[in-house]
Order: sequence, then C-alpha cells, then structure tokens
Amino acid sequence: MSLKGKKVLIGLTGGIACYKIPYLVRYLWKEKAEVRVIMTEGATKFITPLTLESVSNNPVATDLFPEDRFTGTHHIDMAQWPDLIVIAPATANFMGKVASGVSDDLLTTVVCASPKPIMIAPAMNPQMWLNKVTQRNKVVLAGLGYTFVGPDEGSTACDHYGIGRMAEPEKIFKAIKTFFSKGSASPKKKA
Ligand SMILES: Cc1cc2nc3c(=O)[nH]c(=O)nc-3n(C[C@H](O)[C@H](O)[C@H](O)COP(=O)(O)O)c2cc1C
Repeated sequence: MSLKGKKVLIGLTGGIACYKIPYLVRYLWKEKAEVRVIMTEGATKFITPLTLESVSNNPVATDLFPEDRFTGTHHIDMAQWPDLIVIAPATANFMGKVASGVSDDLLTTVVCASPKPIMIAPAMNPQMWLNKVTQRNKVVLAGLGYTFVGPDEGSTACDHYGIGRMAEPEKIFKAIKTFFSKGSASPKKKA
C-alpha cells in the first residue's frame, strides 16, 4: 500500500536514537507520504534540524514562540494537519509531560491540542524504562489511546542491556503502514 497523500507528523525528543530518524523519514518519503517534523530543544542537541529538513523536504519546527511565524496559532495548525503523529524517539521526560497534561514546548503543546492518533516509540536506558513512574506513564498513555511501538530489548548507547532501545526505523515504518492499512479501525487518541 502506498502512503501517497498521507500526512505524518514526526516529533523527535532528546535521545541518542534521534540519529536513526532520518531513515524513518526517508522510508515515508519514498512511499510518497507527506512528512513534517517537530523537534524539542533536547532533540536538536543530537541531530540538526537541517538534516531533517533535507530528508523531509519541509521546514522543521522547534519553537513555540518563533520570531518569524505568520500566524499566532501555528501550534493549532500543526495539531490539525496530520493523519498520524509519531513521536520517535520518545524520552521518559516527554512521556511524563504528556501523561500529566504538561504543554511547555511546541511538541507537547501540539500533542495536547491534537485530536489525531499518536504513536510513541520510546527510547531510553533500561533503568529509565523500568522506573515505576515511566511504567505508570506508559499505562496512562496506552489507556488514553496512544499506541506504542517498542521499546525493544538489546544493548543501549550507554552500554547497558535490557528493554529500552528504540524500535528500529523499519519496525516503526511497518507500524505506520499497518496503521494506515487498518483505516478507521485504528485506535484514536482519547485525550
Ligand atoms: C547523552 C544523553 C543521552 C540521552 N538519552 C536519552 C534517552 O535515550 N532517553 C531519554 O528518555 N532521555 C535521554 N536523555 C535525557 C533527556 O535528553 C532529558 O531528559 C531531556 O530533558 C529530554 O527533553 P525532551 O523530552 O524535551 O526532549 C539523554 C541525555 C543525554 C545528555
């Protein structure tokens, strides 16, 4: 199934797995999906917006209060635009903020303002994943209709072994294709 005409908003948060996201964007782009990208400030420490702009062929948004915006409500426009929002990699911090309704940057504000389905690909150190607060946040988000891809078991960048690795870009891409092939039967965000 081609993704022609499908609109996918990718949100990157601040983890080392950011370096894998250009591959995901490229898979989507090759299938003719429209891709836009939002990065948290943390994500920009790991990979530049220019890289994501180059592979998505679209400007990358990072600021809730940009100097050069044309409308005062670009966060609402971005929240309405996609058919699917994919957060990859998703930090423990991002999960905690969204599970608590915090909207203190562009990405969390767009997520809060969007009625669209949201897929989360967490990536973190295994202890951060096992942390009871992270586990509670996962249960809260899953109960609200967010879907999860991964995390997977294996070695992490900090040289620890366990569950916490971001699902590989191919796996996230397949989950996105499955989402679109299921159409309206796919879970919707309830919050
Ligand atoms: C080198 C380095 C790697 C990090 N990797 C991760 C990670 O993989 N997952 C995670 O949850 N946090 C990770 N962090 C911590 C986050 O960057 C930090 O919690 C930050 O506040 C996240 O902000 P954001 O969620 O707004 O992007 C890392 C921090 C550093 C310095």
